[in-house]
Amino acid sequence: MPSRASGRTVSFEVDGRQLDAPVAPGQVLRTVLREAGVHSVKKGCDAGDCGACSVLVDGEPVHSCIWPAHRLDGRAVTTAAGLGTVEHPHPVQQAFVDAAGFQCGFCTAGMVVTASTLTEADHDDLPRLLKGNLCRCTGYRAIGDAICGVANTTTPAAGTAVGQSTTAPAALRVVTGGEEYTLDFRSPTKLLHLAVLGSPHPHARVVSIDVSAAEAMPGVHAVLTHHDSPATLFSTGRHEDREDDPDDSLVIDPVLRFRGQRVAAVVAESVREARLALDAVVVEYELLPAVFDPEQARRPGAPLLHGEKTSEVSRIAFPERNTVAAMHGETGDVEAALAAADVTVEGTWRTQRVSHAALETHATRGWLDDDGRLVLRTSSQVPFLVRDEVAHVFGLPQESVRVFTKRVGGGFGGKQELLTEDLVTLAVLRTGRAVQYEMSRDDEFTVVPTRHPMRVRVRLGATRDGLLTAMHVDQLMDTGAYGNHGIGVMYHSVHESTSVYRCENKRVDAESVYTNNLPSGAFRGYGLGQVVFGVESAMDELARELGLDPFELRRRNVVVPGDPMVVTDPDEETDLLYGSYGLDQCLDLVERALATPSDDPAVAAADVVPEGPSWSVGTGMALAMIATMPPRGHFADTSVALRSDGGYDVAVGTAEFGNGTTTVHGQLVATVLGTTPDRVTIRQSDTDVARYDTGAFGSAGVVVAGKALLAAAQKLRAAMVERALDLTGGAASVVDGGPLPEVVTGGVVVTRASRTPGGDPEHVVVDAGQLLAAGPLSADGSHDGTPRSVAFNVHAFRVAVDRSTGEVRMLRSIQAADAGTVLNPEQLRGQVEGGTAQAIGTALYEEVLLDEEGRVTTTALRNYRVPKFSDVPRTEVLFAATHDDLGPLGAKSMSEAPYNPVAPALANAIRDALGMRPHELPMSRDRLWRLARG
Ligand code: FES
Repeated sequence: MPSRASGRTVSFEVDGRQLDAPVAPGQVLRTVLREAGVHSVKKGCDAGDCGACSVLVDGEPVHSCIWPAHRLDGRAVTTAAGLGTVEHPHPVQQAFVDAAGFQCGFCTAGMVVTASTLTEADHDDLPRLLKGNLCRCTGYRAIGDAICGVANTTTPAAGTAVGQSTTAPAALRVVTGGEEYTLDFRSPTKLLHLAVLGSPHPHARVVSIDVSAAEAMPGVHAVLTHHDSPATLFSTGRHEDREDDPDDSLVIDPVLRFRGQRVAAVVAESVREARLALDAVVVEYELLPAVFDPEQARRPGAPLLHGEKTSEVSRIAFPERNTVAAMHGETGDVEAALAAADVTVEGTWRTQRVSHAALETHATRGWLDDDGRLVLRTSSQVPFLVRDEVAHVFGLPQESVRVFTKRVGGGFGGKQELLTEDLVTLAVLRTGRAVQYEMSRDDEFTVVPTRHPMRVRVRLGATRDGLLTAMHVDQLMDTGAYGNHGIGVMYHSVHESTSVYRCENKRVDAESVYTNNLPSGAFRGYGLGQVVFGVESAMDELARELGLDPFELRRRNVVVPGDPMVVTDPDEETDLLYGSYGLDQCLDLVERALATPSDDPAVAAADVVPEGPSWSVGTGMALAMIATMPPRGHFADTSVALRSDGGYDVAVGTAEFGNGTTTVHGQLVATVLGTTPDRVTIRQSDTDVARYDTGAFGSAGVVVAGKALLAAAQKLRAAMVERALDLTGGAASVVDGGPLPEVVTGGVVVTRASRTPGGDPEHVVVDAGQLLAAGPLSADGSHDGTPRSVAFNVHAFRVAVDRSTGEVRMLRSIQAADAGTVLNPEQLRGQVEGGTAQAIGTALYEEVLLDEEGRVTTTALRNYRVPKFSDVPRTEVLFAATHDDLGPLGAKSMSEAPYNPVAPALANAIRDALGMRPHELPMSRDRLWRLARG
């Protein structure tokens, strides 16, 4: 067995510091650097695909995850931390701050290293020069701006931060590689590492398992099997109400329902030793029949995945037919309305499995603190929900568990799951040691839940005037082996996609079905993207049948304030309101922009039809509505406290993973308290530090936690004013008709009557020290997420499609977003661009492929293909001018929403170009080539 002892020591320089490090045969530079505590180097793929690990070796950019460490002797390695510091950033690092050139920032340390080697002459060649650096969040426009020296951010005056493009509080740390992500810290005690033996079968039962040989392997501390697992069933999907998901999972289950499911876990001194010991675990399996197609899985006689469970205990709708959830409802009479309609259209659309492909893989490090409490540092969007469920599953008092996150390297819904924390808990409790479980990129593709594949059949009927009279959506989704999010995604997918249209006769049939495939889960849009693809494609077809402009057809049928938002039950959504309405503006903005040549030179340069007879040009549009937070409760309890230096300490439970909530929370508090965001310190996403927060999903970070913070800041402001009045002689001395006491940076200004008869009023500043001398000043704020408002997005494309190859070129990409008050324009633009880029990948090429026996065949970013810099067009982002009565200072959410209309808008443009309609995602070249041939 190779070991560090059988390697050699290399001597090299890293960021100006001499380092001697042991190197094992075959070891790469990335692991040498990380083991030496150089955390400015990130792990994204370990395959040379993503560039998160980029460093300079003797001035040349390399992917350190594939660069052989044995060549290190005498070399100089420069990471992002060596380029510059927070105090003295490298010019390119400062440019990334000024341009807001990141969101989660996990790609940024590598991105700035590569960018630091570029000159002005390279600016026209960025698509080629950045092909080795992926970003999953931004859509690349802001990265391009940063490299070309375009500044997009502003430094606001005190009390004016809301509405301005302020920088993220962590910006300088992110760009200089110092911001901590989940595993970016050195454990004070020797860490143990965990590796998992995955099932080689799609459906099997463990008959026997012998771990004795594995336990005897060098470095092994424990081998965990189903015999060690708690018997409490749970769901990896996390929601405020744990009963929203079916209890169908065990930490380690003797029944294996998909390839890769945990059979055993080895805890050892090193990852290498843990993996080697996996080979020594001897398992006898009883093979069970498997089913991979949801249509077959729900038929009588199909192999049952959870047939031994009951609806009462596990909340599975029909375990006897593999159906975790079902919805069948109707308002009016759809069949009669279709029969009577002047025009009908129908079609069936299919969507694929999509990986979140967040650049930071799932990881947890756990240990017992000095008081024996379990501590989990994890890459989660929902630390409080993880704490609650770990305590529930392991029978621990909630107060004996602490869960926290540092900055999280992307989520997109994929980290609204409990995927690593439970196994680490089991290992920590068994060994009493600190244990780390870090998923590989392979794991991310083979065991992490994906977006739900769906089959969506849509039937529409309308009058000759273009008024919808009938709508039928029949949806079937493959939830895979476990039902995490399988219930919620099903309901949500058919909700805003259908309720955005007025129609007296609606029917929805939806089922979420177990198969022996990799589980599906939460993904940006939470099912809407899939059903919107079907509905908006059908609406486009209806417009063609009617000879109506697609914008006009939407205008005639979308809900407007006063209309109920109905799926099939007119009384069902009592908490969903119009806090504002900007769909009409979005339609107008996009239609106008599409009809007008852009005055942005970069957009105009791309809007050129390629030469040649095989190219066809088309335009298409689609819309989407989304509720601005999850139904059935989403809670945030926050606090804001005045510091003696005049700054403020904020505690909020929301995790930051590129959603930008930290920036906006700082803006909200600074604006209310008359100061600047840099004087607001935010402590977050730690169950020991912040009060309760349901979590960062459902686009709730701004509209729920933001509203709670706004309340806390407003209360604190009132308390500061009251105390300042007390200290300056009471309200009676305040000048009648004069200005009210004002909270400003550093304290409160009180204008009071002069002590000298006839003298001018006095302006007295009561500073923070004086205010706090009478006792601490802090305030709490809470919000329960209701009532909910709605936000809207409209997207349009002009495309050219090469009929001879199936290639699609996006000539124009335009999205209008109705986000209410725009709290941070550059950040909001980035969310729209990032969502659009992710949706373009979904629409055109991304697909987690499984073979006919449920084996994932796309196990690397290289063959999965996340959009690169060169793949993403410049999207023109427009905002409706609305003010939401329900959101904080008029804002609505806009993290998930921009993703949803993109695929159907692109499909409708391709339909326009080819004269043939795509019905399946991804609309890959080969599919479009075949489509073009009829
Ligand atoms: Fe680039 Fe998140 S900011 S991956």
